[in-house]
Amino acid sequence: MTLSFSASSLPGADGVWRHLHLAPEALGAGADAVPHAAIVVDQGVVVWVGAHAELPAVYRPRKQHDAKGAVVTPGLVDCHTHLVYGGLRANEFAMRLAGASYEEVARAGGGIVSTVKATRQASEDELFEAAVPRMMALLSEGVCAIEIKSGYGLSLAHERKQLRVARRLGEIFGVTVRTSFLGAHALPPDYAGRSGDYIDLVCHEMMPALAAEGLVDAVDVFCESIGFTLAETQKVFEAAKALGLPVKLHAEQLSDMGGAALAARYGALSCDHIEHLSAQGIAAMRQSGTVAVLLPGAYFTLRDTHLPPIAALREAGVPMAVSTDHNPGSSPALSLLLMINMACTLFRLTVPEALAGVTRHAAQALGLQATHGQIHVGGPANFVLWPVGDVSELAYWLGQRPACSVVRQGRLAVDGMALSSQVA
Ligand code: NIG
Ligand code: FE
Repeated sequence: MTLSFSASSLPGADGVWRHLHLAPEALGAGADAVPHAAIVVDQGVVVWVGAHAELPAVYRPRKQHDAKGAVVTPGLVDCHTHLVYGGLRANEFAMRLAGASYEEVARAGGGIVSTVKATRQASEDELFEAAVPRMMALLSEGVCAIEIKSGYGLSLAHERKQLRVARRLGEIFGVTVRTSFLGAHALPPDYAGRSGDYIDLVCHEMMPALAAEGLVDAVDVFCESIGFTLAETQKVFEAAKALGLPVKLHAEQLSDMGGAALAARYGALSCDHIEHLSAQGIAAMRQSGTVAVLLPGAYFTLRDTHLPPIAALREAGVPMAVSTDHNPGSSPALSLLLMINMACTLFRLTVPEALAGVTRHAAQALGLQATHGQIHVGGPANFVLWPVGDVSELAYWLGQRPACSVVRQGRLAVDGMALSSQVA
C-alpha cells in the first residue's frame, strides 16, 4: 500500500494558541490548572506557556489559533503496545468464553505462538498496512508518543521486520515511537525444549544485530510460567546492559516470579502488568525509580480477578502509568481513553492518577520525561485540545471518542474541533 498521507504535509502549529484551559499538572507534577491560558509554538517547539494575561508583547503579533475554551492536556503517551503483528485471535476470545484459560489456550498452540506464525507469513508491507488503522485509532485520541514491541517474529529476520515497521510508522505519522526488542516473548516452535539455546540466540545474535541497526530503544522480556524463567530473564538483561540498552519487564502478570525485583536491580524503566507484584517487588521498584505500568485492558479481556496492588504502590510513591497493551490476544484495545476509565473503575485510580498515568508517568516509563508527558517549554509541541467542560470527562465517557484537536510534533495533526486560525 502506498499511504498517500505524510506527516510533513500537515499544517504547522506555529503561533499563539489562546482560549485554552490548561489541565492541572499539564505543566508538571503538582502544577495548578490555568483557566485562561496561552501556548506559543515556534518552529514546532513550545516557547512560552502561561496565563494569557501575561503573554509577552513580543508574541502578540504572531498567528492566532482560537482553541474555543478547550481543556488542554499534554499529548498522551501509550507506553506499552504490541501494535505490529499479523493475523487476529478472535477465536481465542470465544475459547476463553467457553472456559479455557489464557495459559490453556497458549499451551494448546494458540496464544502468542499463533500470532508468531501469522507475523512470519506477512511481508513488511502487509504488517505496515495492518498496523496503520490501529495507529490511526490511537492517534485520533491524542496519542503523541507510543512504544511498540517486537516479539511476534522470534527470529532475527522476523523481529527486524516488526521493528522496521515500527520505525516506519513513526516516520509516516510524525509520532514519537520507542521500540522495545521483545525477542524473549515466547519460545518459538523451532526451539521447543531448547529454551537455553533460544536465549543465547536472543542475547548474542538478535539483540546485538538489531541494536547495531538502530532498531532497539529498550529490551523487554515476558518473565512468566508460560514465558521465560527468572534466570533466563537475567541473561537477557545482562546482554542489554552490555549494549547499554535500558530494560523493562512483563512482570508478575499471572504469578509472582520475582521479576520486578530483578528488573529493579537492572534499573528497569518499567515493570508492566504486575497483578501479582509482592511487597518486596514494590520496595525494589521504589528504590530504583521503576514505573509500574498498569494494563487494565489485559486484566479485563482475560477476566482476571487478581488486582494489582494499587494502594501499596500509591503508599510507596511508585509512579503508576496506564497503557493499552494493544495486542491481538490479551488486549485488543485501541482507546487509551477507555484505559483511563478502566484504570479508575477496575483499579480504583483517581482521575488525576489515571491522567498522570497516560502522560507524565507513561513518558517516564519510556525514558522520555524530558520531552514528553507534560507541556515543556523548549520541548516539541505535543498537546491535545479537548472539547469538554472538565478534564474528568476524559475518564468518564465509555467509547465516546471526543472530537479533539491534536498538535503533534509541532503540527496540527488532528482537527476534530475545526479550529479557526488567523494571522494577527
Ligand atoms: O502483554 N503477556 C505477554 N504479552 C502480551 C500478550 C501477547 C499475546 O497474547 O499475544 C501482553 O499481554
Ligand atoms: Fe504486553
